[in-house]
Amino acid sequence: MVRLALPLLLLLGCTSPPPPPAPPAPPAPTVQPEGLAWSAEALWAERALLRSVEDPSALGEARHALSEVVARSPYRTFDLHLAAFVERLAGRPDAEQAILARADPDRASVYAWFFTRPAPEVLALIRAHLHLVCVEQGTDCGPPPPMPEDTPAFEQIAWLSHGADRLAQWTGRPEAPPLTQLLAEIGAVPGARVADVGAGEGWFTFPIARAVGPQGKVYATEIDPSFLRMIRFIAEREGLAQVEAVLQTEADIGLPESSVDVVLLCEVFKAIATNAQAGDPAHVEARVRPFLDSVHRALAPGGRLVVIDHDSPADAPRALAPATIRALAEAHGFRLVRALDDYRPMQVVLIFERPG
Ligand SMILES: C[S@@+](CC[C@H](N)C(=O)[O-])C[C@H]1O[C@@H](n2cnc3c(N)ncnc32)[C@H](O)[C@@H]1O
Repeated sequence: MVRLALPLLLLLGCTSPPPPPAPPAPPAPTVQPEGLAWSAEALWAERALLRSVEDPSALGEARHALSEVVARSPYRTFDLHLAAFVERLAGRPDAEQAILARADPDRASVYAWFFTRPAPEVLALIRAHLHLVCVEQGTDCGPPPPMPEDTPAFEQIAWLSHGADRLAQWTGRPEAPPLTQLLAEIGAVPGARVADVGAGEGWFTFPIARAVGPQGKVYATEIDPSFLRMIRFIAEREGLAQVEAVLQTEADIGLPESSVDVVLLCEVFKAIATNAQAGDPAHVEARVRPFLDSVHRALAPGGRLVVIDHDSPADAPRALAPATIRALAEAHGFRLVRALDDYRPMQVVLIFERPG
C-alpha cells in the first residue's frame, strides 16, 4: 500500500514544496470587453439563415440555435424577433406568435415594420450585421456587402420604435421643443462624457454622440445585448467612434468610478419598476438601491443625473411616480437642481447633481 502510494504522491507532486503565493488578483473590470454581447449561437443562426436561401434545411439549424439563445436570456429583443421571423419563414405562424408573445410588447411595431418585410431585405441587413461582427473581431472581412437602397437600418428601427415625433407625443404639441434644446439642458455639450443608461435602440445615444462630438464620449449601456448590437451597428455605419456599447447588469451600470459627467436615465425607472413589482416599495427599493449606487460611483463629483420618466401618479401599477424617483435619488446623495416642465403632460425631466 505504502509502496504504491509513494510513487502516486510523487506523480501528483504532493511531495514538492508548496507553490509561491499567487500575486493578488487584479480588480475585475466592470466594463464588458467589446464583443461579449455577441452570442455564438445567434451568429450561427444568422449564418444559417443566409445559407437557407440555397439550402432550405439550414432553416432548421437557425431555429435550433435561436431557441437555445432565447431560452437562456429574457433580455434579447432582437433575437426573439429573429426567432419569430425564422418561424414565419418556416411557415409556422403559431410558433411565430408564441415567440412574439414573449417579446417586449412596446417593440411590437418594430417587428411589424421590419421583420415582416420581404425576406431578401431582412437578409441583406443580416449580411451587413455579420460583416460588422467580423470587423469587430479584427479579422480581414473584405468590403462591406451591398445593401439595397431602401433597406431599413437599425437607426430607422430605433426611430420608429418610439415614433419620430417622440417629443411631440410627450408634449401633445406639434411644435415641441427641438431635441437639441433638451440635449443642451441635460449637458450633452462638446467634449462631455455621457452615459445613456438603458439606451434601448439608441434613440438618445446618437443625437448625444453628435452633440458631444469626437472629443466627447457616450457609453450606451443596456441589460439587453441585442440592443447593444444595434447600437454598434449604427455607430459603425455613422463613423461615431465616440460611442461605446456596454453590457451591464440590472444592479450595476458597469462604468468605472468618476468616468462620466452625465448619466441619462430615460424611461429606465419605468422599466425597472416593470421588471420588479412596482406596487411593492420594499422590492423597488431593493432593486433601485444597488443600481443607483453604481450610477453615483460612475458620475464625477459635480456631475449630473438626468431622469426622464412618465409623469405617473403615485398609485400607477407599473411605473414610479416622479416624487418616488426624487426620494430615491435624494436618498443616494443626489440634489435636485432643476425640473423641466416643457415635456409635460407626458414626461418629467429631473436634473440632479452629484455634489462634489
Ligand atoms: C423604455 S426603454 C427606454 C430606452 C431608451 N432609454 C429610450 O428612452 O429610448 C427601457 C430600457 O431600459 C432597459 N432596462 C431595464 N432595466 C434596466 C436596468 N436595471 N438597467 C439598465 N437598463 C435597464 C430595457 O432593456 C429597455 O431597453
